[in-house]
Amino acid sequence: MSEVIVTPKSTTNPDVAAAAAQFLSPVVIELQALAVNGKQAHWHVRGANFIGVHELLDDVVDHAQAYADLAAERVVALGLPVDARIQTVAEKTTAKPLSAGFHKSDVVIAQVIDQIDTALAAVNNAVKELDEIDQTSQDVAIEIARGLDKDRWFLFAHISE
Ligand SMILES: [Fe+2]
Repeated sequence: MSEVIVTPKSTTNPDVAAAAAQFLSPVVIELQALAVNGKQAHWHVRGANFIGVHELLDDVVDHAQAYADLAAERVVALGLPVDARIQTVAEKTTAKPLSAGFHKSDVVIAQVIDQIDTALAAVNNAVKELDEIDQTSQDVAIEIARGLDKDRWFLFAHISE
């Protein structure tokens, strides 16, 4: 007797999936941009506290990649695709361009903080907008916000008075 394989249907509400994609996709874009620019900063920082800042920037990159993965896989788990191809990231990111070449640590830190703030704007918007639509997706955004706030603090502490 041959078995008939029936693919289980998704129970995800299409409105929930669409909202998660709408508000988490910009989060993925900005975090991928942060990961790329964070590496650029890691390679080109010079001056005071070099080794500490150099290594901290690698943590920022690692976290940005992990958070991008978390947000992207939430959307995909709900059945929708994410477009984070490099050309799409370059087109859609609202982050300011990083200065090219070598820079002192205070300049690099200020620019990376600005980059984190761009990502945080997308993340905090997702937290706000997903509140009444899908608290599970909102929880993903909240976790990312908490992590980015901490990385921002670690960087800011180097340049604050
Ligand atoms: Fe490195």
